Amino acid sequence: MSGTQQTAQTSTLYPVPAAFAQSAHIGSREAYDKLCQEAQHDHTAYWGRLAREFLSWHQPFTQTLDERQAPFYKWFEDGLLNASYNCLDRQIEAGLGDKTAIIFEADDGQVSHVSYKELLSRVSRLANALKAQGVKKGDRVVLYLPMSVEGVVAMQACARIGATHSVVFGGFSAQSLRDRIEDAGAVMVITADEQVRGGKTLPLKAIVDEALTLGGCDSIRQVIVFQRTGGKVAFQAGRDLWMHELTAAQSDVCAPEWVSAEHPLFLLYTSGSTGKPKGVQHSTGGYLLHAAVTMKWTFDYKPDDVFWCTADIGWVTGHTYVAYGPLANGGTQLVFEGVPTYPDAARFWRMIEAHKVSIFYTAPTAIRALIKAAESDAKVHPRNFDLSSLRLLGTVGEPINPAAWEWYHREIGGGKCPIVDTFWQTETGGHMITPLPGAHALTPGSCTLPFPGIDAAIVDETGKEVPWGQGGLLVVRKPWPSMIRTIWGDPERFQKSYYPPDFGGKYYLAGDGAIRDVNTGYFTITGRIDDVLNVSGHRMGTMEIESALVSHPLVAEAAVVGRPDDLTGEAICAFVVLKRPRPEGDEAKQIANELRNHVGQEIGPIAKPKDIRFGDNLPKTRSGKIMRRLLRVVAKGEDVTQDTSTLENPAILDQLSQRN
Ligand code: WT7
Repeated sequence: MSGTQQTAQTSTLYPVPAAFAQSAHIGSREAYDKLCQEAQHDHTAYWGRLAREFLSWHQPFTQTLDERQAPFYKWFEDGLLNASYNCLDRQIEAGLGDKTAIIFEADDGQVSHVSYKELLSRVSRLANALKAQGVKKGDRVVLYLPMSVEGVVAMQACARIGATHSVVFGGFSAQSLRDRIEDAGAVMVITADEQVRGGKTLPLKAIVDEALTLGGCDSIRQVIVFQRTGGKVAFQAGRDLWMHELTAAQSDVCAPEWVSAEHPLFLLYTSGSTGKPKGVQHSTGGYLLHAAVTMKWTFDYKPDDVFWCTADIGWVTGHTYVAYGPLANGGTQLVFEGVPTYPDAARFWRMIEAHKVSIFYTAPTAIRALIKAAESDAKVHPRNFDLSSLRLLGTVGEPINPAAWEWYHREIGGGKCPIVDTFWQTETGGHMITPLPGAHALTPGSCTLPFPGIDAAIVDETGKEVPWGQGGLLVVRKPWPSMIRTIWGDPERFQKSYYPPDFGGKYYLAGDGAIRDVNTGYFTITGRIDDVLNVSGHRMGTMEIESALVSHPLVAEAAVVGRPDDLTGEAICAFVVLKRPRPEGDEAKQIANELRNHVGQEIGPIAKPKDIRFGDNLPKTRSGKIMRRLLRVVAKGEDVTQDTSTLENPAILDQLSQRN
């Protein structure tokens, strides 16, 4: 529980710029308090009101919240709607047909604009094509796609016909893709010939082919391939189909499938502290509601904004704030293919200037990397670019260190843009604790206060709220519409992971430690309290990496911990015992590399350990439990000062301190 041990702190407050507050949707602390009071007074009525205001219902719901099977909460269940209708058709009906929905910039800088009308027609063609291939309401479709208009189109097309999409990030390996396909029981994979990132291509279709040969994917009937590069791919007759050929043959009109608000819009796999990744199941109505409301209030979204969320659609951020939130508000957004450092580390700044981005949302890890680049190469410094179109900045995915916050505020925001540090999770569907930029003065490193209607609190192990200034466990005491519904195929794990009996089974346990500022009550997230690491804003389970290591024939045992890293937030550090004598020198380096590549193949490059240390054994208690607490100290390169008397083999710590 290292994440909860924090002391009280107070820091500088950045007031809300008056000009910003004046035109903001939620433009004062009073306006924020009023919404919180409304929710406090009648939680379900508050969310019911928003659901009616923000979404278009084909059939209105009569009951807002059904708690009978708690914690399997149901929201708006007898209401019928369609997510794609809410994102596309209704914008066109409101006169936004010719408005640009997506500005797409490819890895090589090529730009295209897609209007709402065109987007709807592309979504409808693909939706019809999916139907023609036999995809039905409730079927799962796995998307393994690059950042592209087609990625958004594919998600929306699934939503249109009531198919449940499950996007797998293009950086995951064939093995990981296979695991997700099997767990989801997907009937189809939609992929691309290749993905382009930073001038390099990655053969997505070939990885799909490999995944499908690994076994367990018999449910897959077709593979639809978006032609991104024209690179060579193998085609299996009867199974593989080109997206452009399928859609060309289809009508661009497709009636939306009206589904219950509880119908699963998507599954998204994420890492937990134990075992396999879990398929987080999200609903249609509650999820879309929160996507729409947070898009409008957290980002103070207005019709003239150009919104840019840099996240990949393979992560939840790319779901809520690329594929759904901006479109549900009729917004114009920038979607980019590539990496922040190609063709150089000024890509973001050049794009903001070129497309007059007004709201920019990215991850602390990207900011830290770009600070470093700007400091060593004046050519890529943001001061060379006109960033005056920006009016609001955001961060997500991991804590932002105050120094990076200050730089972002000064160099990117010109000292005038508020920064929304948004805390949330794959499971929460959208922002949970975040500044509303017209209402909250800001403290660097703090996500400030709960979104109105989110009953977040910090409690001790018994569920009792702790005083401000004291660290504890972050919980949410009332259900909210965009919450995870279950873990696909494993309701028990859902209940055990998120609604443990410790708090009467009534509180959602986020898995993070947090502390509130003694003066402002502002929340600061202090880190995970479980064995989940956050590497560059990506969530990695230590057990998953350990299993990958142990599946290598040379490995007898492995323990993985995180250690702080200036650039990636946390870095993966693996302690490994081989089945042969402990290697040293060049041999150790060579085996370490082999193991890194093995993990890359088992999970994906993002899971490759930065450090691998070899030992004759791991530090264990006499009962055989690995002492991760000590490994964390060793990983940091610090001397172990803790009591090691319970250790079976204290000498092992010296051995493990040596790097390869
Ligand atoms: C974990 C969730 C939220 C979408 C992307 C990541 C950490 C997330 C913040 C923040 C401090 C944060 C938490 C959380 N996290 N946002 N603003 N400040 N920590 O989603 O992969 O489900 O990871 O990311 O530890 O539990 P995810």
